[in-house]
This record gives sequence, C-alpha cells and structure tokens, in this order.
Amino acid sequence: MTNKWILIAIDHKVGKWTLKAIDVFQERAKRGFWAINPETPNFKSLRKGDIAVFYLGGKDGQKFVGKGILASEPCTVTQEQMRSLIGEPSSFFTHVVELCQIDVWEPPLPLDLVINELGFIENKDKWWIHFQGTIKSLSDEDYNIIESARQKMFQEPGLSTENATQVSHTSRNVVEEFNFRKLCSEIQKTTYFTHGFFPYPAKFIPQIPRYFIKNYTDKEEVVLDPFCGCGTTLVEAKLLGRESFGIDINPLAQLLTRVKTTPLEKGELEKETNLLLQRIKEYHGEPWNVDFPNKDYWFEKSAQQELGVIKACIDEVPKKEIREFFLVCFASIVRKCSNADPKISKPVFTKRMRELKDRKIEPKKYFEEKVKEYCNQMVAFSTYLNCYAEKSAKAEVIGKDARDIELGDESVDLIVTSPPFVNAQEYFRTTKFEISWTGLAKAEEIRDLKRQLIGVERVSNHDYMELHLTGNPRLDDIIKKIYMVDKQRAYILYQYFVEMARAFKEFYRVLANNGCFVITIGDNIVRKIPVPTHELIIDIAENHAGFKCERVGYDVIKAHALMTKRNVTGGVMSVEWAMVMRKL
Ligand SMILES: C[S@@+](CC[C@H](N)C(=O)[O-])C[C@H]1O[C@@H](n2cnc3c(N)ncnc32)[C@H](O)[C@@H]1O
Repeated sequence: MTNKWILIAIDHKVGKWTLKAIDVFQERAKRGFWAINPETPNFKSLRKGDIAVFYLGGKDGQKFVGKGILASEPCTVTQEQMRSLIGEPSSFFTHVVELCQIDVWEPPLPLDLVINELGFIENKDKWWIHFQGTIKSLSDEDYNIIESARQKMFQEPGLSTENATQVSHTSRNVVEEFNFRKLCSEIQKTTYFTHGFFPYPAKFIPQIPRYFIKNYTDKEEVVLDPFCGCGTTLVEAKLLGRESFGIDINPLAQLLTRVKTTPLEKGELEKETNLLLQRIKEYHGEPWNVDFPNKDYWFEKSAQQELGVIKACIDEVPKKEIREFFLVCFASIVRKCSNADPKISKPVFTKRMRELKDRKIEPKKYFEEKVKEYCNQMVAFSTYLNCYAEKSAKAEVIGKDARDIELGDESVDLIVTSPPFVNAQEYFRTTKFEISWTGLAKAEEIRDLKRQLIGVERVSNHDYMELHLTGNPRLDDIIKKIYMVDKQRAYILYQYFVEMARAFKEFYRVLANNGCFVITIGDNIVRKIPVPTHELIIDIAENHAGFKCERVGYDVIKAHALMTKRNVTGGVMSVEWAMVMRKL
C-alpha cells in the first residue's frame, strides 16, 4: 500500500520580509525537493514512491495546489539545494526528500470545498490545528476525497475547464462555428422575461434552443426537451408559439419549468402578492416544519423560523399557479438564508461563512424583494404573450424520466436538449435545500430520485470491480484506459453512455420521421484522459439509435470566462458542442 502525505508550505520569514507560501511551494516544485528535519513528524516513514499532496498554508493559502511522488527517502541536503532554502524555517532544515512527477493544479483546490468531508479535520471550527508541521499523513479515504473534488472542479460549470476540449474534427462532418448570441441577436439579455428565475445549474442560454426552434420547426409543430432543467427550451418554444413538452427527474426543475411557462394576469398577481405579504407579517400560527439531514448546521434557528412562516403562508394561497409562482420566489431565497457560501454552486459552509456567522439573515425581507422582482418579470412575460405571441402555445411538464417518455410514437417534431453531465448528482446536491424547503420531496425521496439520474457518481464496488464494455470500440478504448487508473470512474462512464443510448432510442421513437434531435454538450477529462463526449454521443445516436448526424458545430461562448492560462498556452479551447441529428 502506498503511503500518502500532505506536504505543507507556509509563509517564510526573510528578515523583515515575508516569502509567501506559494513562492516557497513553486521554488520547491521547480527544484524537485522538499526540505525537512529529522525532528519532522513522520520523517522516518517517508518512502520512495509515496504520494504527496501539496497544501499551502499562510495568509493567501488554504488550498491544495498539486501532487507529486517522492523520488527518494530522506537524505542530507546538498550545498546546491541549501542555496535555495531561503527564509525561516527552511534555512534550518538539514534534510530533503526528492520529488518527481509534480503536477501543479491549475486552478488549485480550495480547502473550503472539501473541509466538511475530510476525516482528518476533526475540528472543523479550528481546522488550522490540523495543518501544523511540515508533513501530515493522509488516509486513502481523504486522498480520494481530494482527488475526486479536484476531478469535479475540472468538470464543473463556472469553476474551471468544464466542457474543455481540444477542438478536433469528426471524420464525417464539417465542423461549423456557431455563435448563438449572434445568430439570435434579438435577445439582448439571457435573463429576459422568466428566464431570470432561479439560478438552475448548467442552464442553457436561451439563444441555443431559440435558434433551433426557429430554424427547425414551423408554428404548429411540437418541441420536446427530455432533460428540460429549469425549462429554457419550453419558455422559448412558448415565446415562438410552438407547443412544447419537458421532462426532468428533479422536482425543482419541474416546478421551475411549470412556473416559467405559465403566464399570470397582472391584477390577480398583484392582489395575491399583497395578501400574501400581509399574511406573512401577521402570521401567528405554527411555522411549516421540514426535516432534512443537518438542518441546524445549515440553517440558523431564526432563519428556520421565518422560512417556516413564509412556507406556511404560501401554502394558503388558493390558486395552484399563483402558489407555485410564490414557491419559486421562495426557493430563490432559501440558499441566501443558509450558511452555504453563495460564491460556490454546491452547498459548502466555508471559513468565510463561519466568520460571517453573526450576520443578519432576513428571510421575510429577501422574500418580499424577490417576489417584487419576479412579479415584474412575470408581468412582462405575460404581456408579451398577450400582445405578440400569435397563439398561446401549450407548455407541459410530463413524466419524470427521459428513458420512458409519456408521449406517443412520432408525436414530436423537434427535440432540443442539453443532457446531464457524467457527474449529474450535482443537480440534486446543488438544489437539495430548495427541494426540501419547498416540500417538493423528502430526504429519502431525493435519495431514490438520485439513483434514477443518468450520470450517477456513486456505484457499488461490486459493480465496478469488473471491466464493463459497451461494444462501441472507440468508447471501450477510453473505458479501458480509465479502468487502468480508476475502476469506479470507468464504470460510471460506461453506465452513463449505456443509459444515454437507452434515452436516445426513446427519443427516436417519439420523434416524427424526418424530425431532428439537437443535443448540446461539452467534452470531459476523466483522470486526465480526454473523453470526446460529443463524438461519442454522435456515435451512439447513429449506431445504437438510428439517427443520422447532419450538423456538428461548436460555440465558444462559455469558453472565454473559463480559459485558464494553461489552456491558452496549450492551444486548447473550451467549447460547447451542438449536434443536429435527423431521424430518416
Ligand atoms: C444540463 S441540465 C439541463 C439544463 C436545461 N437545458 C436548462 O436550461 O435548464 C440536465 C438535466 O437532466 C436532468 N436529468 C438527469 N437524469 C435524468 C433522467 N433520467 N430523466 C430526465 N432528466 C434527467 C437533471 O435533473 C438536469 O436538470
């Protein structure tokens, strides 16, 4: 069994000056050794071949910045090495361990993202006591937590190189460059009308479904988004006068889609808003009560009380459409009332939030502000539909699972969708507070729903110990490579594509002859092995479901914000792919 260590770099004193931990680390990474003392705890246990994870302490630190392998056991520092040991405490060190295969993480992994999960940090409030000394032993479990958090960061929207890919060319198609913002330049803001409701993870920019709906359907035709998320496709279909259907396994996504596509009459909405806000002010009954794991950790008692009052009052709104609209307003303030850091998409109780623990949390005030904001957007949406939409097209949420669509054969003219990523559980992890507080599902129901997601992360080792192959040579080659380094990830990838193939067959069934299926997706990197997801998707849609791919293109819209220095210098571009597949 390989030992694993955390090597900790801290700020150094150089006379009156401070040499920052990051500079100490970079110098050591460049020179390929780590300075230590025989008194350093664990000194005698260090072995050639052990794995080291580098951590930065110090003022700007609190992050894991890379990993490497010990290339030697402790040995006496050489004269040459001594010259680079500047500042205290390094200048007192007499020994080093050599390092090789150093991988500097860009971006680094903030401790905040994993602090709650790391077992060795027993005291989460005084976490820094666990980073004293130069070398710390790291258990396999904690090492895996760090590795998988880092892997996820690499794929996660907004954080790093989600959708990163080397722009390659598929053998069959000329690759187009789409610029959806230009192609639908009539849209000025991606949050117009009800699109601005709730920051659902990985939502489309509305220009994407709009472009395809406009160009691939006529007014009377039917659009389906089988992974509809918060309903972007359905809102656009409605604005363009097309009937539409949406499916999503996440009950919050279903609620958002219903509300965002249901126009409400201004007078009635204003009247109900005034009544609700008044009722909340005067409410003396029992607050609505919700139960989910670690509720008191995530929500202060006072916030729980006020949220419970708001929810109890919303439940009294008689008309379902208006009640659900208020529920969306409510869902949109839940996160702000929690201890989760708003700067991170998943709920994480960071050090920053711990320091802000005594801040004022005002659910009633936030709710009132949110209702006013969303009322204006809803009224604008309804007015537009009344005045400009030629016909009020139906938008409906049906069923729950993209692999089992409650629609007849050949009943849909166009499918536009962005499927879940391989790490789809994030959709539930990110929205679990909102699902619980709105009463859409209980904790155990959420657990069941998670299992039905395409792209599950947790699989039993009974499943993944054996190598599973799909029969698709290209995909199987990648699965085999990943299996060599990570059996679990290999199985997750296998399962993802098998389930996608099932969904694609269902899409083929419900699509009219000659109808199109448009899918947008980014490529992934799993354990440093590139997975050209978009090309594999084309392969599967053609070979396992019967579609014919007729357009492939990419849009660099997301890329600009995501490009790291390394991407640019490496000539790598981050893109979102879009493919048009036809049922012939
Ligand atoms: C990338 S998001 C879609 C975002 C959407 N385009 C939007 O604009 O909001 C993918 C969605 O697939 C859903 N999903 C995952 N597995 C599913 C399944 N088996 N059936 C239906 N939906 C599923 C997730 O809940 C998630 O909302």
